[in-house]
Amino acid sequence: MDRAEKGAFITAVLFLSFFFALIVYAAKGLNIDVPTCITDVKPYTQGQVIQHAPNRYEIHYLAKMWYFEPADVELPVGSTVDIYLTSGDVIHGFQIDGTNVNLMAVPGAISYARVKFEKPGVYHIVCHEYCGIGHQDMTTKIVVKG
Ligand code: CUA
Repeated sequence: MDRAEKGAFITAVLFLSFFFALIVYAAKGLNIDVPTCITDVKPYTQGQVIQHAPNRYEIHYLAKMWYFEPADVELPVGSTVDIYLTSGDVIHGFQIDGTNVNLMAVPGAISYARVKFEKPGVYHIVCHEYCGIGHQDMTTKIVVKG
């Protein structure tokens, strides 16, 4: 490798590392919940809402053609919710309007995100991955009551 090439290569690697570190640092510093795909949880076949404490919930969402289970969840304002998501058939999307939750529902895998509902209101959830003839009707909601 030419000396100039080597220099350019090292510079590129340094810049990449710097920007990657910056992204990780920013995500931590701003306390952004980065959605993750977790592998140590067994996929489930039923949706459910589990309450751990007055403002602490866990929701297991199951996406299927063309609905989400559980449908129309009601939560008190200020709730922190751990969302686990899987699919019972094909790949679906899962986006909660007004939050940074944007996940993929993948059969055999669990996606995870944590969200805190600070304001009361209706949070619509949509499937944002084309999944067949009923895709555009694949919605549900979380109603946060103050
Ligand atoms: Cu499910 Cu689109």
